[in-house]
Amino acid sequence: MNEKQRLESQQAKQQTSFQKQEKDYSQYFQTVYMPPSLKDARKRGREEIEYHKDFEIPDELREIGQGRKFYIRTYGCQMNEHDTEVMAGIFMELGYRHTETIEDADVILLNTCAIRENAENKVFGELGHLKPLKLEKPDLLIGVCGCMSQEESVVNRILQKHHFVDMIFGTHNIHRLPQILNEAYMSKEMVIEVWSKEGDIIENLPKVRMGNIKAWVNIMYGCDKFCTYCIVPYTRGKERSRRPEDIIQEVRQLAAQGYKEITLLGQNVNAYGKDFDDMEYGLGDLMDDLRKVDIPRIRFTTSHPRDFDDRLIEVLAKKGNLVEHIHLPVQSGSSDILKIMGRVYTREQFLELVRKIKAAIPDVALSTDIIVGFPNETDEQFEETLSLYREVGFETAYTFIYSPREGTPAARMKDNVSMEVKKERLQRLNQLVNEFSAKAMKKYEGQIVEVLVEGESKTNPDILSGYTRKNKLVNFKGPKSAIGQLVHVKINEAKTWTLDGVMVEEREAVEVNCNG
Ligand code: 5AD
Ligand code: SF4
Repeated sequence: MNEKQRLESQQAKQQTSFQKQEKDYSQYFQTVYMPPSLKDARKRGREEIEYHKDFEIPDELREIGQGRKFYIRTYGCQMNEHDTEVMAGIFMELGYRHTETIEDADVILLNTCAIRENAENKVFGELGHLKPLKLEKPDLLIGVCGCMSQEESVVNRILQKHHFVDMIFGTHNIHRLPQILNEAYMSKEMVIEVWSKEGDIIENLPKVRMGNIKAWVNIMYGCDKFCTYCIVPYTRGKERSRRPEDIIQEVRQLAAQGYKEITLLGQNVNAYGKDFDDMEYGLGDLMDDLRKVDIPRIRFTTSHPRDFDDRLIEVLAKKGNLVEHIHLPVQSGSSDILKIMGRVYTREQFLELVRKIKAAIPDVALSTDIIVGFPNETDEQFEETLSLYREVGFETAYTFIYSPREGTPAARMKDNVSMEVKKERLQRLNQLVNEFSAKAMKKYEGQIVEVLVEGESKTNPDILSGYTRKNKLVNFKGPKSAIGQLVHVKINEAKTWTLDGVMVEEREAVEVNCNG
């Protein structure tokens, strides 16, 4: 390209981004009514990801929260929990105060999860409970946000049956909370703002973190994997990575503030960096850079086996602040089921990945997610899941019965497996999960482990509790001054899910290898 062509191309780029800004600017003022579309949410690659570093609250909205309190109820995954932290940050900047008591709130938000039907039913149940409160207190604002708001069927159901809801906004619209609240105060209509777009990246959003020991840091958003059962790619948009410098700076700031553990978040963190067109930089590179930050522990979730590359394994093997626990969802042990799930790996490829991970990190602890009762899953295919679980030696798992999600390809598949059979399979799988967890825990008896102390135990204020590097919950006797610190605990007794022990003087703590 000669100089003239280069300049023309640069001008054209500037022109496009200017037009885009113009378009966004007008959206900023228009009255909001944008119902979602799962069909539009499926599209990939048409829109360019817009990167904003300029989140700002308009001056005229800065005081709208004066004298008012907000309450947010969060459903679902850590991504949602973290979105709640951002929304809480925006509320605080608008002058609202936080309340834990629903009856005291002037704004109630339900930050929802769409992953399975029972998650959605809980939200509709909660909406039913909120109706009398709204009748008693007409000035109360009730909002539904998060993944469910990205679904057409949910928005239609709320429009038809839950007229008392004041606001519905989507996962791409969180940064517009000030404008949405303002609109809800001004208008008698339900305010709906759900962009079925591929998604932007917005930096500089305020956050109120839920604790001061562990923190979540988004490294990427969205998912392009489109596993056939999963609604997430529709509700969370296209895979888009934050710039490494923004992530590293956020982790450094958290370290300086005294946080001890960071969990890097993304729906499919192994695809990190694949959308950068100016450099080759993946999750392995990011972890290698974060390894040098002075913070005791760094984790990440969630992994997709397909994109789990050798570079990442090599970096994780360096350990230091990179913990030796990997959550690696397998979903099924049958290659045929994996194929119709659209997971793009076979049982053998998964086992090969596990072999490589264990060769590089012999004391690694692996956990997983499994779906039972996928449409037409046979007994033999289910047995393959059990045998894979044993072969890998997972230490724990989140297990689910398949739940059809409207708009996904699997929801259109005919299913010959009865609910009774699905429940039986879940029970059998859970028995195996318990057995393997108990076995992994038993090996800790007599060992000394490093524990990040989070606080008093939920059931007994005389007991402290915290987690090991491999994410095992430890309950132990120790002084309150240990809260927020890394301490050493000698394990006396292992239960199926927890370890009991006593605090001991500092010494090299070794977490045992359950696979060994
Ligand atoms: N039904 C059941 N479980 C599901 N998951 C995702 N979609 C579904 C569904 N439709 C599970 C997967 C995923 C975890 C977060 O939720 O196991 O890893
Ligand atoms: Fe859903 Fe698959 Fe993406 Fe995970 S990788 S969020 S299961 S589509």
